[in-house]
Amino acid sequence: MTTATAPAVAAMAASGEDALAPLRAAAAAIVARGGAPTAAAKEEYAGLMTRWAAAGGPADDAVVAVGKAVYGVEGAAAAAAPKADAPPVAYARVEFEFLEGYMKDVFVQYGVPDDEAVTAAKVLIESDKRGIDSHGIGRLNPIYCQRLKAGIMKPTAPFEVVKETPSTAVIDGHMGLGLVIGPRAMDMCIAKAKEVGVAMVVVRNSTHYGMAGYYPLMAVAKGCIGFTGTNARPSIAPLGGVQPMLGTNPITFGCGSDDPFPYVLDCATSINQRGKIERYAREGMPTPAGQVIDKQGIVRTDTDGILKDLTTRQCALAPLGGVSMDTGAHKGTGYATLCEILSTALQGNPTSPELTGVDQATGKPAPMPLGHWFIAIDVERFTEVSTFNSRVGGLLRELRSSEKNPKGDGEIMTAGEPEHRAWTERSQNGGTLVPPALQKDMVNLRAQFPALMEKYPKFSFE
Ligand SMILES: NC(=O)c1ccc[n+]([C@@H]2O[C@H](COP(=O)([O-])OP(=O)(O)OC[C@H]3O[C@@H](n4cnc5c(N)ncnc54)[C@H](O)[C@@H]3O)[C@@H](O)[C@H]2O)c1
Repeated sequence: MTTATAPAVAAMAASGEDALAPLRAAAAAIVARGGAPTAAAKEEYAGLMTRWAAAGGPADDAVVAVGKAVYGVEGAAAAAAPKADAPPVAYARVEFEFLEGYMKDVFVQYGVPDDEAVTAAKVLIESDKRGIDSHGIGRLNPIYCQRLKAGIMKPTAPFEVVKETPSTAVIDGHMGLGLVIGPRAMDMCIAKAKEVGVAMVVVRNSTHYGMAGYYPLMAVAKGCIGFTGTNARPSIAPLGGVQPMLGTNPITFGCGSDDPFPYVLDCATSINQRGKIERYAREGMPTPAGQVIDKQGIVRTDTDGILKDLTTRQCALAPLGGVSMDTGAHKGTGYATLCEILSTALQGNPTSPELTGVDQATGKPAPMPLGHWFIAIDVERFTEVSTFNSRVGGLLRELRSSEKNPKGDGEIMTAGEPEHRAWTERSQNGGTLVPPALQKDMVNLRAQFPALMEKYPKFSFE
């Protein structure tokens, strides 16, 4: 099956206790047939959607979402307008503090020591605070809990200093939680930079360390410039190729500014990345065109199919610049490779192509030892922090106040600004919006542990 995940098919079929049941079952059967969405399958699904609309099927149902995302059935989906009395899709506003506490408690249930669970939850909640929904609570179950459960990520492990000088260190994370290893390594890097001016710490045998922007923010809080990057499971095809070879490999930079927010450029070296595609899946959205290419060289937009085919390496993400040199794909390929080198060669870690996450012989989950790198630069070794911050702020304000594109939305932002806006909006309005699929995840996770059932008998959205 390549067009939708098995759980999505099961959910479509299972929720069919009403008059729409036969249509749900028919949709699930089309999806379950698998393979690329052929013209015949598209036509069949479109016919089914017409019947769905005629039968008064709601437009916010998984059947419609899959039709849109996988088979591109726009017209029929539009015809299936929600009934006037249909409840809106129930996003729930949940307070940061509550979510952070819940995530910490979940980690503890998976065997993470209390203080380490606090750190891991802090990294995740920072994403939710900053509007980076792909890397917060949304990752708790699919990445961390699932990998802890599968034994390919350890709830706790030694933070071994393999090699060290006053300005450098090599750390072995022994497959512990990247969300705990990352902050420890960056702390160490900042402390060294405060001693000697510039420091670099690299990590091997780590696991997913979350939102890369967390680490430069730690540096900024101590008057430093922060740089970091990590490799990840192979997703990006280099320019001219279709095979997923490089991770989404973020190269992330942060520094202070006298603006109300620091400058933080925090993004992948692919145009898009898996976390955001997972979000499209949760929201039933297609993936925008031009960001994913498959083995046949076809540009794909079917979100569920893409997620599955990324796992089986049948399709790949495009690097920054897309799939052509005309649009600069050689530059994106180069930046992703640079990050890969810094994440593997200094620490002697496997490269991304080796990290499929799946044991090719058994099909079972396989460990993915990741490498990270952290650089901290103590600003005071060069100039006063306040002088540096006002120079940076001055530049950023110049950029933002420069002439606007008359065909644009009338505004120029600088990196870190959208996240500051998200943080302001979310703080003022009482937390982050948790979509229905994540609410379900929270409920399901709780149900697995009596201690969570006792502590959280009812969530605010129940
Ligand atoms: N740990 C991993 O393996 C891994 C891998 C890839 C990405 N990530 C994380 O995923 C998150 C999202 O990455 P992404 O590639 O989707 O990022 P993105 O495409 O959302 O870009 C985010 C960056 O662009 C800036 N930005 C956004 N809109 C802007 C605008 N209009 N003008 C100027 N700047 C703007 C933001 O301030 C931010 O620095 C990041 O936190 C990243 O660290 C992690």
